[in-house]
Amino acid sequence: MQLPPADVVHIWTVPLTATAATVSRLHGLLGLRERLRAADRAPADWWRRHVVSHAAVRAILGGYLDREPSSLRFGYGRWGKPRLAGLEFNLSHTGDLALLAVSAQRPVGVDVEGSRPDFPAVAFADRYFPPAERELVAAAGPEAPAVWRRLWSRKEACVKAAGARAALGLSLAVAGPGDLRRVRDSSGLLPGTWLLRDLPAPEGHAACVALDGDRPFAVTHQTWIADEAVRHREVP
Ligand SMILES: CC(C)(COP(=O)(O)OP(=O)(O)OC[C@H]1O[C@@H](n2cnc3c(N)ncnc32)[C@H](O)[C@@H]1OP(=O)(O)O)[C@@H](O)C(=O)NCCC(=O)NCCS
Repeated sequence: MQLPPADVVHIWTVPLTATAATVSRLHGLLGLRERLRAADRAPADWWRRHVVSHAAVRAILGGYLDREPSSLRFGYGRWGKPRLAGLEFNLSHTGDLALLAVSAQRPVGVDVEGSRPDFPAVAFADRYFPPAERELVAAAGPEAPAVWRRLWSRKEACVKAAGARAALGLSLAVAGPGDLRRVRDSSGLLPGTWLLRDLPAPEGHAACVALDGDRPFAVTHQTWIADEAVRHREVP
């Protein structure tokens, strides 16, 4: 599989549903760190999503690098961003949905947000967002959760491109059109410049990808389905 050309991001949609047999098979691809993570206390749904999402990352990235998925060795940034020599990538998940963004060289961040029933969107924005965004959320009435979700997915995409932590992105100004929006942190908490693109997402969700730097970029979409990958022997 060819890495994306410069200034193209591949977005992989990964449904985190799979049969028990597939989950058991995919478990064999994981490294020790992934296997041990909460293994003794994870609810079954969490475990299935964890195994499928991390196996998908290995299968897809192994495909780009022409390496066995189980042989990949990840490094981790200061705030835990996984890294791999030879490409840039980022994973996000909510419920039964994961997105994986892959770029050849420019650091990338992706975020998908599901609905959070009872989340105090207006109060949260009022406390943490810049003034113009507070007003947007407050003025949205019943749409406040959706407006909050859109803004939050953009902030998180930037934070994740930077390999930082969520708190550092709260004050980023991200409102406005979501097509190649340029973002720079005036507070200096999160050094860098990113271009954003909102991504299609299911009803009640918001998703966004951020790419490091100023050059415009395009996005292509593909889907990875665990049961099919196992059935077609795409994973060993
Ligand atoms: C990175 C962060 C913003 C993502 O939060 P999130 O919306 O809950 O998670 P997402 O589903 O979008 O992304 C999770 C994935 O991003 C990747 N990731 C982890 N840390 C990352 C970071 N600092 N930057 C970019 N990507 C990161 C991992 O692949 C992770 O997948 P995994 O949890 O299955 O291993 C958040 O976890 C954070 O702030 N981390 C920094 C460390 C920290 O402060 N932890 C306490 C969090 S309350």
